[in-house]
Amino acid sequence: LAGDDLAGETMLITAGPTREELDPVRYISNHSSGKMGYALARAARHRGAKVILVSGPTCLAPPPGVELVQVESARQMHEAVMACVPDCSVVIKAAAVADYRPVLRCGEKMKKSGETLTLQLEKNPDILAELGQLERRPLLVGFAAETTDLQTHAAAKLAAKNLDMIVANDVSQEGAGFNVSTNIARILYRDGRIEPLELMAKTRLAELILDRIRELLQDKR
Ligand code: C5P
Repeated sequence: LAGDDLAGETMLITAGPTREELDPVRYISNHSSGKMGYALARAARHRGAKVILVSGPTCLAPPPGVELVQVESARQMHEAVMACVPDCSVVIKAAAVADYRPVLRCGEKMKKSGETLTLQLEKNPDILAELGQLERRPLLVGFAAETTDLQTHAAAKLAAKNLDMIVANDVSQEGAGFNVSTNIARILYRDGRIEPLELMAKTRLAELILDRIRELLQDKR
């Protein structure tokens, strides 16, 4: 049942984890599966949007009709997003971007030596925060995965990153967050509204998020 209620929109969606390399065989990453971002990309395309999916490494097949840009590190994702954003009316940042990367990447496999090993990390660019400061800001949607004080942290991110909405999910709850097909979320809006949601499939949550994005786009115009 293809629709066209998002026809005319160009949506940039990020998905999956990033990998921050330590040496040719090791990296730092997280448990993101990419399911939420891919579900959003598939649904948005189905509803008529042009979709650019900037994805970290996942096991998922790219949805048909979507332009896939594959990246590994946060810095590569940053570069890809910044290159595409001028053409986009909406950006949904569902990727779990690594906050830090190793200061040094060894050219050769690191050898086992001492009893302890200290890694020094440095901050990655905050892509979404940077988008929030653009003069021509697209509609910006963020995600917040938290294990404590979900609503407080999500509200703080919404404000700090200058977003239109943020989808907050408590990843410590059963049936929510990383690597499962369902999610329990609440959506926080710029005007202070909070919409708590039931446990639902990520595919259904994707449709609901796109419904809300459409409403916000209509209000804006
Ligand atoms: O990492 P954090 O919890 O702040 O992530 C919140 C939102 O910001 C997510 O939508 C995530 O994709 C985005 N983000 C980003 N660049 C980063 C870190 C997070 O775009 N370096």
